[in-house]
Amino acid sequence: MYSEKVMDHFQNPRNVGEIENASGVGTVGNAKCGDIMRMFLDIDDETGIIRECKFKTFGCGAAIATSSMATELVKGKTIQEALQVTNKAVMEALDGLPPVKIHCSLLAEEAIHAALWDYAEKHHIKIEGLQKPKNDISDDEEEEEY
Ligand code: FES
Repeated sequence: MYSEKVMDHFQNPRNVGEIENASGVGTVGNAKCGDIMRMFLDIDDETGIIRECKFKTFGCGAAIATSSMATELVKGKTIQEALQVTNKAVMEALDGLPPVKIHCSLLAEEAIHAALWDYAEKHHIKIEGLQKPKNDISDDEEEEEY
């Protein structure tokens, strides 16, 4: 039921860990399943390019695979490009997720947003198109949409 890519990223997750003195850190959880993800970004202040991205996920296999893929997708991107890395984009890159696991991919998207929000707050800047992230995403799951 899982694609090969999902299994690969679950078994060999990329970019696991922490970044010391990260430019931005975001932590997001889902109170319903109890899973938590923390995302660390290292952003070049001059160019706005994400040089490094690491994550730690206490969660299910799909959450780990989506975090892993999300970090791969945002690395080397600008902040604006990173905002386009939605849970849908992550799922597509993973060749899909079973419907009951779609909500897991929302953790990755929201954790990126939370880390960017943290970066913006630390630098007193506003990132166009970025809305205040939620700490708990379980309230607005929109599984039916997919
Ligand atoms: Fe909680 Fe997957 S079951 S993130």
